[in-house]
Amino acid sequence: MAASRLQLGTFGTNLAPGITFTTIPGALTTDWSRVTDLALRAEDMGFEAIVPISRWKGYGGAHNPHSDSYDTLTWAAAVGAVTRSARVFATVSMPVVHPVMAAKQMATIDHVTGGRAGINVLAGWYRPEMEMFGADLLAHDRRYDLADEWIEIVERLWSETEEFDLDGDFFHLTGASSAPKPVGERPQIMNAAMSGRGLEFALQHADKLYVKLSDEREQATAQVENAKRQARERYGREIEVWTFGYVVDGPTEQAARDFLHYYAQENGMHDAAINALRIMGVEAEVAGDNSTAARRFSWVAGDGGVPLIGTAAQVADGLEWLADVGIDGCLLGWPLWEDGMSRFADDVLPLLTERGLRAAI
Ligand SMILES: Cc1cc2nc3c(=O)[nH]c(=O)nc-3n(C[C@H](O)[C@H](O)[C@H](O)COP(=O)(O)O)c2cc1C
Repeated sequence: MAASRLQLGTFGTNLAPGITFTTIPGALTTDWSRVTDLALRAEDMGFEAIVPISRWKGYGGAHNPHSDSYDTLTWAAAVGAVTRSARVFATVSMPVVHPVMAAKQMATIDHVTGGRAGINVLAGWYRPEMEMFGADLLAHDRRYDLADEWIEIVERLWSETEEFDLDGDFFHLTGASSAPKPVGERPQIMNAAMSGRGLEFALQHADKLYVKLSDEREQATAQVENAKRQARERYGREIEVWTFGYVVDGPTEQAARDFLHYYAQENGMHDAAINALRIMGVEAEVAGDNSTAARRFSWVAGDGGVPLIGTAAQVADGLEWLADVGIDGCLLGWPLWEDGMSRFADDVLPLLTERGLRAAI
């Protein structure tokens, strides 16, 4: 199959209730048969990536969303064993997973999948989760000093055949080695840093960088171009730029908006979103004011992703807009995954193929 102009993936099928904080019946649960079914559907639709969310502790409130979550490394090994074509990612919080452990786990997943493994690395921001491990949440930029050391260890373990010692600021290794090596060149590295220091880390190490896109066309185009140019000019690297969104479709735009109102406004877990955004606002560098009602709504509706709302044609328009500003790939989530993915396959994918965004499947 030829490469598509806009790659697609699923986001957060490893936890409840997925990327939409809703209590409606049918929202995602940690039920293994659903996980594998969604992964196989994604592949049938030609999706290129399957990406989980790393969450060890929920966001509280009356329903505590994301408390119910599968570990992403063992999840990726198992998803990798039943899939055939998509790249399967594990999402790893660097401060709480030792790099020697992660390097071997990722090499294992790469063998299970025949070279389809990917790792989404996080510097950490969710303090209650770090405290659960007895780990320190370092000062913001210091987290990326740890991240530099962490990823360098992992990359060395994937590539070097001789044992090595390392006396770093964060890790002290004696006779470190790891075999087998990954099947391919190495698992793909993904990162979703939002800050200046985080971007610096991502430009040097990530193959796929996530950006929180401006919704203004010129600015969004500049954001994408700038990230790619900086990686090329400063580090001699070609990177892809990705984003993520949530799909709410209906026979009419009004029907889609009514459904959005139903699951996110009337049945949304707003208390949990307030908790998450408050902590993120304090601990991570996020652009804009995290306390606004709009930010909270967007978090409840789809984890703060790009809204893809309306008829199938409008959803396709939204994805086309992303491709036009230079985005290489977009992860997606739905409030009701099975129904949403079926309609996406039937109604949206053919439009994307017609418009030259997706190869025919
Ligand atoms: C696509 C995507 C995936 C993310 N996955 C996770 C995740 O699995 N767990 C998590 O705690 N945070 C996740 N985040 C949040 C980022 O880690 C967080 O925004 C980042 O730490 C903030 O950037 P900064 O460290 O540069 O301030 C994700 C963000 C994006 C955009």
